Amino acid sequence: MSGGRERFRALRDSQLWRSIFRTGVPQTPRSRLAVIVSNVFLHLHPLQISAASLRFRRTFCMGGLAFLSFVIVTVTGILLMFYYRPTAEYAYADIEDIMHTVPYGRLLRNLHRWSAHAMVLLVIAHMARVFLAGAYRPPREFNWVVGVMLLVLTLFLSFTGYLLPWDQLAYWAVTVGTNMAGAAPIVGHLGPFTVVGEGNDVRALLLGDRVVGDAAILRFYVLHCVVVPVILVILLAVHFYRVRRDGGVLARY
Ligand code: HEM
Repeated sequence: MSGGRERFRALRDSQLWRSIFRTGVPQTPRSRLAVIVSNVFLHLHPLQISAASLRFRRTFCMGGLAFLSFVIVTVTGILLMFYYRPTAEYAYADIEDIMHTVPYGRLLRNLHRWSAHAMVLLVIAHMARVFLAGAYRPPREFNWVVGVMLLVLTLFLSFTGYLLPWDQLAYWAVTVGTNMAGAAPIVGHLGPFTVVGEGNDVRALLLGDRVVGDAAILRFYVLHCVVVPVILVILLAVHFYRVRRDGGVLARY
């Protein structure tokens, strides 16, 4: 037994082990504590926070609930990806299959839909709470800016998901939405001060074509399932990191 312990200690002191797991820091209770409390992944809260900032009525937990709905949307979205093919030929039929033949498919799709709606509402409510509390003021002004990006991405996530069922509602909603993009100033071919033509404006970039078709559904699928969620997760990490660096949730209004 003690021989095993000796060998483990020798392994831990070896150059190989230390080159992988290194820390030159002496292993005392104090240094271990310092590692935990200074690492944002291991200790999300600042070392000291005011008891007032922990009260439910301070935040109504709306940021946390928005995050929870994002987690539900992500898990159910990944499961839906097993049954859905993003082409004009299969998309509508695959959704019908999910609703009528896939076991628990209707539940899965509805969970995805309702948590997406909930996320939009909760993010807006969270933003209103932050605004009314004046928590956008220094030192939290950068986190407010990150928050605005999160809001835009949340709305874009909803917009790109809207096309995927490939029914009449989806088709015409995205036709209207992308036409609006085509009428944007500078980057839309119909907008004021335009510098682009119909084939290379922001509408064409979104659709991959001049009409809503196969290219559009693929682009919206990739944006919806990969590009936007990845950017959102990175910004969420920055958002939570900033909450901690700014000393936790604003304690006094
Ligand atoms: C995906 C969207 C978002 C998620 C998941 C999220 C999550 C959170 C969480 C968990 C907190 C900790 C306290 C709380 O729950 O209120 C927080 C704080 C904060 N959020 Fe968000 N947030 C999001 C969007 C936004 C938006 C749209 C804004 C504003 C434009 C914003 C601005 C802030 C600010 C300034 C704080 C610090 C508040 C304080 O110290 O009282 N966030 N966020």
